[in-house]
Amino acid sequence: MRIFAVAIFAFVLAGCGGQTQQARPEAPPPGREEPVVETKPAPEEAPAPEPAEVSFSKDVQPILTASCIACHSPSGSAARYDLTSYDRLARLVVGGNADASKFFTVMQQGRMPPSGKLEQSKLDLIRDWITRGAKDN
Ligand code: HEC
Repeated sequence: MRIFAVAIFAFVLAGCGGQTQQARPEAPPPGREEPVVETKPAPEEAPAPEPAEVSFSKDVQPILTASCIACHSPSGSAARYDLTSYDRLARLVVGGNADASKFFTVMQQGRMPPSGKLEQSKLDLIRDWITRGAKDN
């Protein structure tokens, strides 16, 4: 009888243990909690939008078209410095070093365009483009 009682006791204990072990995996329905955790890192990454790349054709060229090309084209008053194509412009740029690039320093100093200095955001963008290698992208 004692052995039987011990066996029952052990069985009950094991049963309880088994129940609590079973209860745990059910308690946090993992499928629901994981997405909540995943959504948190996303907003943290969003506020720091370091532009992965600055594009010549999409970012830099539109600024030149708006502010420089009127004079700096083959038919303009400053045809000597043709800024209508990347190849022409590249001669005034030292890739990776905006401060050594005449193309940039004249804008930074406010000499070009003659009508007035470009907005800082545009200067920053162009500096960024040159710093990243002044690619024809
Ligand atoms: C209103 C006409 C006009 C506009 C707009 C203009 N420029 Fe000029 N730019 C000139 C003239 C004129 C010269 C002198 C050309 C020469 O020496 O043959 C000049 C010279 C330059 C030079 C050579 C400077 C030097 O010291 O040798 C650069 C670089 C230049 N411009 C860049 C720009 C950039 C970049 C823009 C646009 C952000 C721009 N320019 C807008 C008229 C203009």
